[in-house]
Amino acid sequence: MNKVIDKIQESGTVTGKSGRIHKLHSPINRQEGLFVYNLIQADASVKKTLEIGCAYGLPSLHICAATNGREDAWHTIIDPLQNTLWDGVGIQNLDAADFDAFELIENKSEFALPLLVQEEEGQFDFVFVEGSQTFDHALLDCFYATRLLRLGGYLVLDSVTRTPARCAADFLNTLPCYEEYASVREPLPKPWPLRLLRLLREPISRLLKEEHLHSVRQQTFLKNKNTRMVAFKKIAEDERGGPAILG
Ligand SMILES: C[S@@+](CC[C@H](N)C(=O)[O-])C[C@H]1O[C@@H](n2cnc3c(N)ncnc32)[C@H](O)[C@@H]1O
Repeated sequence: MNKVIDKIQESGTVTGKSGRIHKLHSPINRQEGLFVYNLIQADASVKKTLEIGCAYGLPSLHICAATNGREDAWHTIIDPLQNTLWDGVGIQNLDAADFDAFELIENKSEFALPLLVQEEEGQFDFVFVEGSQTFDHALLDCFYATRLLRLGGYLVLDSVTRTPARCAADFLNTLPCYEEYASVREPLPKPWPLRLLRLLREPISRLLKEEHLHSVRQQTFLKNKNTRMVAFKKIAEDERGGPAILG
């Protein structure tokens, strides 16, 4: 798909603008990268994309590889720590891959997104969310992403194996403006006793009347509990608050 992506995945390392070599840190894996790439490739109308949380830039590379060559394609990245904590790796990788249709907003999403909504409400075709790892951040990012997306656009949430993103995804699944479109699932653990335990976990905990202990995990609305990454499609405007002018 792309030589820079292949090289990173083979070596498991990236090089920063300081020249230092870094080990990959919880990036999207091959399957998730392909999922993002294929989703965008399959819909030629996806050109204007947004990513919250770039880190070492693997999602950025897959997004830009998928829109590469499309007229007016433009990728916006929000990451306050790209040039500090992440040593500029994400941007360096995009440069190495010869992608130039992108911009980095080096600010926290809670500050950057409201400004973006003022300027570009309903204009994005695709938003990828994996910024700060708290529930309130994930929800806030999704709130603004919903405003930024046009009808028919996609919102992809990563790390839904973790509670903050899982809760945000479950909430999105209750909104009439979204349909759960596609997902990447975790394979069931291989040894059969573990597999059996996993399958029986819910009925057993119900039997033991422990539901309240696991209420967050059990209030799962996602179609599949093993979901790692999920894509929602915006199928209607969000009109819960009444006419948009009041919103
Ligand atoms: C888990 S990493 C993202 C990993 C990336 N999706 C990948 O697969 O390589 C989270 C990212 O969110 C960024 N981040 C942290 N706080 C943020 C905030 N308030 N707004 C936007 N991004 C933030 C971090 O700098 C980091 O790049």
